[in-house]
Amino acid sequence: MKKLSILSKLLVCSGLVFVGFSAQADEVKGSAAAGNTKVWLCVGCHSIPDYRADYPLVYRVPMLGGQNAAYITTALSEYKKGERKHPTMRSIATSLSDQDMADIGEYYAAQTASSPNNPLK
Ligand code: HEC
Repeated sequence: MKKLSILSKLLVCSGLVFVGFSAQADEVKGSAAAGNTKVWLCVGCHSIPDYRADYPLVYRVPMLGGQNAAYITTALSEYKKGERKHPTMRSIATSLSDQDMADIGEYYAAQTASSPNNPLK
């Protein structure tokens, strides 16, 4: 009987640790609205002027609008860590915090070919 109660206490403890970890993993949440104020850095190279009029050219690489947020965040942190080598993207990514990357990812993920014409896409 005693053994059983120790065991159940252990289970409760490890459950708490687990909850603690998963709460931490969710800490950085991106916001598209916040991202809107940060993408001015990227516009010079990644924005496509008159997006809709140039519809067949929308899929030029690398296009960010409509990409999965996690894909963008991961790519940026890979540049920051040096796992991706492009020198300009590396220096830009180095200046971004995890929060900036998450916000920018959400912002671009929210852009689609049918979004209203938006010079920051
Ligand atoms: C000076 C021009 C320039 C600026 C400014 C710039 N980028 Fe880039 N970006 C590039 C180029 C060129 C590539 C392709 C590099 C490569 O092949 O690794 C790229 C690649 C990327 C990729 C990877 C795309 C893919 O499909 O793999 C992401 C994500 C990205 N940029 C995000 C950003 C964000 C976010 C900003 C603003 C904070 C930004 N870039 C600013 C030129 C730029």
